[in-house]
Amino acid sequence: MELNVELVELRLEGGLLAGRIHVPVPVQITAGQYFLAASGRPDEALAAVVFPAGNMDGWLDLAPPLPSAWSAGTLLHLRGPLGRGFRLPVVRRVALAALDGITARLRLLWNQALVQGAEVALFTRRIPASLPDAVEVLPLESLPDVSGWAEYLALDGTLPQVLEWKSRLAFPGVAAEALVNLPMPCGGMGECGVCSVRTRRGWKHACQDGPVFDLHELEAL
Ligand code: FES
Repeated sequence: MELNVELVELRLEGGLLAGRIHVPVPVQITAGQYFLAASGRPDEALAAVVFPAGNMDGWLDLAPPLPSAWSAGTLLHLRGPLGRGFRLPVVRRVALAALDGITARLRLLWNQALVQGAEVALFTRRIPASLPDAVEVLPLESLPDVSGWAEYLALDGTLPQVLEWKSRLAFPGVAAEALVNLPMPCGGMGECGVCSVRTRRGWKHACQDGPVFDLHELEAL
């Protein structure tokens, strides 16, 4: 889907720019999918990768960080949703970990888990400003203790962070996925290869095969 939209609201979340746009048509989004947003500004040659953090009543919330040059009223050409998102199974206990401290990219996922009636634990070093009471916040360092509790684990961070935490966690038999946050300049249109990720099944493109991967499949470079 391609849309021309206006950035109607900007706010700071954890010191980073987040925003909101109005979308004139309903958009079906899976948590973990992303959009490419081009502002057309001469100093922004490449579209920005933006992740939705909310999708309700014609409004789409965009997770931080947004480009610092954007302001309320900035016109955006939006392409998406793109890529493969999270595949949350029907489980009772869900553990989510924001490895880089940005929890907003996981917001759609914890909302989905709560709708399914699951208990949700969020592991992070930065407590988000607004959070449903039902989501328990725990320090990221306590994540290794969760392996016997969670039936589903989702990590979100850069590729080095995801690989480091994968090596520190024991989660046999647990469904586990990771949103690998890395540059995706062409979104698969140009096959630039910048987003290459190594998996047990060979090299994959995060822009199309991810950015959410089965954590068991990811391999170190
Ligand atoms: S971003 Fe270019 S191939 Fe993935």
